[in-house]
Amino acid sequence: MPQLIAGNWKMNCLSAEAIALAEAIAAGASGITAELLVCPTALHVAAVAKALAGTAVAVGGQDCHQATHGAHTGDIAAPMLRDAGAGWVILGHSERRQNHGETDELVREKTVAAVEAGLRPIVCVGETADQRSGGQETEVVGWQLAGSLPKPFDGVIAYEPVWAIGTGKTATEQDVAVMHAFIREELVRQFGDAGQTVRILYGGSVKASNAVSLMAVPDVGGALVGGASLNAEEFLTIARAARAG
Ligand code: PGA
Repeated sequence: MPQLIAGNWKMNCLSAEAIALAEAIAAGASGITAELLVCPTALHVAAVAKALAGTAVAVGGQDCHQATHGAHTGDIAAPMLRDAGAGWVILGHSERRQNHGETDELVREKTVAAVEAGLRPIVCVGETADQRSGGQETEVVGWQLAGSLPKPFDGVIAYEPVWAIGTGKTATEQDVAVMHAFIREELVRQFGDAGQTVRILYGGSVKASNAVSLMAVPDVGGALVGGASLNAEEFLTIARAARAG
């Protein structure tokens, strides 16, 4: 399976900038064997999907509500993202868990809603700096995996150590190898053989300068890229570092 290189644009770009960024990525995507995905703010999913129609670059959302519709002011339902042209959605990102109090149980409900709407979920897990310095990183990620994933699980995992997100600090290749091997074990424990093929992305300060070494780590199925995904050339350089299969 090719690696997946996903751009998490977070709360960035006005509409013209989002479209220009999407077009620049699509224009440079020929010859790239990785699967490419960009996740603009929900407001721009439709415009970016339109700009990317017929290209190799897919579009996703950054969150969705667990209900299909209803009295949830300010929220966005998974079928709405799908209707706007999204094929994917990021769920349980640490910024949602921290800033919006999202629990594992809520992330699991959102994941179910996403899959029912025809979206492919990218479920994020990862420990804080304190949890890592306390030696609890695998325990924390193990609980997140046990609580956030529905059975069966048809999606992708993103391991994003919270201390590496937007900080310029990247986990070492050794840290990534150990955690991805642990996540693989947990996936197989939860889902049997199906757990063998779930892609596990690494995220947290991935950039052009570290992408080759990170993407070569065993069991890394791609990258979830924040800051560096806002620059088309840098994002494409990361994508060129990806393994084909
Ligand atoms: P970063 O963000 O690449 O800016 O560290 C990654 C993410 O939050 O998905």
